[in-house]
Amino acid sequence: MVQFTLPKNSQIRVGKTWPVPQGATNLRKFKIYRWDPDSGENPRLDTYHVDMDRCGPMVLDALIMIKNEIDPTLTFRRSCREGICGSCAMNIGGGNHLACIYGIDEIEGDIAIYPLPHMSVVKDLVPDLTMFYAQHASVKPYLITESPTPPREWRQSIEDRKQLDGLYECILCACCSTACPSYWWNGDRYLGPAALLAANRWITDSRDEATGERLDALEDPFKLYRCHTIMNCTNTCPKGLNPAKAIAEIKHLMVERIV
Ligand code: SF4
Ligand code: SF4
Ligand code: FES
Repeated sequence: MVQFTLPKNSQIRVGKTWPVPQGATNLRKFKIYRWDPDSGENPRLDTYHVDMDRCGPMVLDALIMIKNEIDPTLTFRRSCREGICGSCAMNIGGGNHLACIYGIDEIEGDIAIYPLPHMSVVKDLVPDLTMFYAQHASVKPYLITESPTPPREWRQSIEDRKQLDGLYECILCACCSTACPSYWWNGDRYLGPAALLAANRWITDSRDEATGERLDALEDPFKLYRCHTIMNCTNTCPKGLNPAKAIAEIKHLMVERIV
């Protein structure tokens, strides 16, 4: 398993151990990062015991149970509960995962949960993704054309459509970018694997007419070339995508258009 470092405000102290639920015999222990910017205090690790006989199988089920029954102040993002929205990404047991599709049984011993690594934290398990989304927007993740708009739709052959498989499925969870050492150290200038996967999705799209412009925008010592093929991104993606390969394909296109 890939192990990552802690979030940026990481001077963590030991926090509160919450009472064991009465009568519960099948317990799992969760150690969860807590930080409230309004408190003026350092982050802390709180310990919760969850009765697994009453809890669903996923880490998100336990978080929801803790919030509903033990500590309503625990803050985290979630929406779809089925690995589609990307909002429940967090660092669980040392790796980045979607809490809603990561089974509690997959983790041995105590379950440590932190926000996504190396990001500023808004509160508890909620990372600040402002820059991540801005980087996504910067690659112009939409169809750009010069030809007159066809009367019904921009058509694409089945073969050309297949070229987008493995690229279009990204749910923008940020597990990959926040697992990438190059992104940790140069996140303000290196676009990171998620944004570059999106860039390649539109470069690859047979209907798009801005390939040259898109490659020009990435021709920069930091935006693209800070990827050193460490592969954390691909090893981490909960959707099984391969951002490292997408980045390599963009680099290959850069070379191809020079020679
Ligand atoms: S392959 Fe590139 S983008 Fe992926 S983790 Fe490594 S440096 Fe980051
Ligand atoms: S490539 Fe995978 S890990 Fe990265 S943002 Fe998309 S879905 Fe998440
Ligand atoms: S809640 Fe939507 S991906 Fe987990």
